[in-house]
Amino acid sequence: MAVLVTGGAGYIGSHTIVELLEASIDVVVVDNYINSKPEALNRVQAITGKDLTFYEVDILDEKSMEQVFENHEIEAVIHFAGLKAVGESVALPLSYYHNNITGSIILFKLMNKYNVKRLVFSSSATVYGLSNPSPLTENLPLSTTNPYGTTKWMIEKILQDIYHADSTWQIVLLRYFNPIGAHESGLIGEDPNGIPNNLMPYVTQVGIGKRKQLGVFGKDYDTPDGTGVRDYIHVVDLAKGHLSALTYITKHKGIEAINLGTGNGHSVLEVIKTFEKANNVTIPYTFEKRRPGDIGTCYADVSKAKKLLGWVAKRSLEDMCRDAWRWQSMYPEGYVND
Ligand code: NAD
Ligand code: UFG
Repeated sequence: MAVLVTGGAGYIGSHTIVELLEASIDVVVVDNYINSKPEALNRVQAITGKDLTFYEVDILDEKSMEQVFENHEIEAVIHFAGLKAVGESVALPLSYYHNNITGSIILFKLMNKYNVKRLVFSSSATVYGLSNPSPLTENLPLSTTNPYGTTKWMIEKILQDIYHADSTWQIVLLRYFNPIGAHESGLIGEDPNGIPNNLMPYVTQVGIGKRKQLGVFGKDYDTPDGTGVRDYIHVVDLAKGHLSALTYITKHKGIEAINLGTGNGHSVLEVIKTFEKANNVTIPYTFEKRRPGDIGTCYADVSKAKKLLGWVAKRSLEDMCRDAWRWQSMYPEGYVND
């Protein structure tokens, strides 16, 4: 019996597989490496000293996907595969809808056919939209502001409908807040293409000298220091949350949306200061205009994760900054040099 991990070579997938292998769970990965490198999976094996099986397969390729279900006795699926760049999704909506939604439908059809009804799906706090107040609870009304977010919302809806048609499914929709950091070994981490969109990879690239300075988007939000507040969560804590979700679905039928965050908000300036102190590195920055589509404050109510999964995030913002920096310093070019 094995767990199928789609998109397992990516940032969150690779960290999750470390946790699965360390819990002696057999893992089969499919990834088309559109936003990752197979080297990440070699590193996962180096960290754990355990083997996994990986296929270079696009989830849109139904025949090849079916072969994976034929080759292995799959007991559950963790579905990370998807495109995730918000700005790109606005420019290329069809690519996002096709890849994320059609790809998911192909996967769910095969799961149905092979009687694999256990699923952990990567959703996002982006489904809470712009107007809900934090702390965000799972039962709030959902809305989205870009095609990427809409794919997450639609896949959640599709899964609700699948469950309503067949109540033997066991599904958890994990709504991630802001995953940052890296495995403490420094061997795996986030490896963005081109100019990073997100705060932490931008900060680490300024730290290493790849970029001159950070632009802080907005200083007039209704927050303690005027800069945006987010719920940053260490990627290793997030990865452990998947293991807890997997354990949960083996025992519970139904479909549950669950936030994965720390429940604490930190401002952009706090992140910069914590990073500088933890790593003894200076991060020059300038204040820029607000980024369109950003909200001032976004953090999770994490009581449902604690209650249902028995999971809480343990790592501090300082841990996140230190581990992100270790990965960036050890591999300034990410996985490309290998
Ligand atoms: P990532 O891009 O590092 O990982 C996604 C992986 O999926 C990549 O390895 C990519 O090559 C693969 N992939 C994409 N399309 C595929 C396809 N058609 N067939 C096979 N493989 C495919 O992203 P991540 O940060 O690890 O995110 C994982 C999941 O979590 C995504 O679904 C993302 O939308 C979601 N998520 C991420 C964040 C975040 O801030 N990182 C926040 C909320 C939700
Ligand atoms: N920020 C800057 N400068 C930068 C980048 C970001 O000041 O160069 C600020 C943003 O304005 C925001 C904070 O840092 O206040 C965090 O921004 P990120 O881009 O790192 O994260 P977001 O919260 O905007 O978005 C992330 C994911 C989305 C996901 C969303 C869900 O990138 O995919 O969380 O909450 F939809």
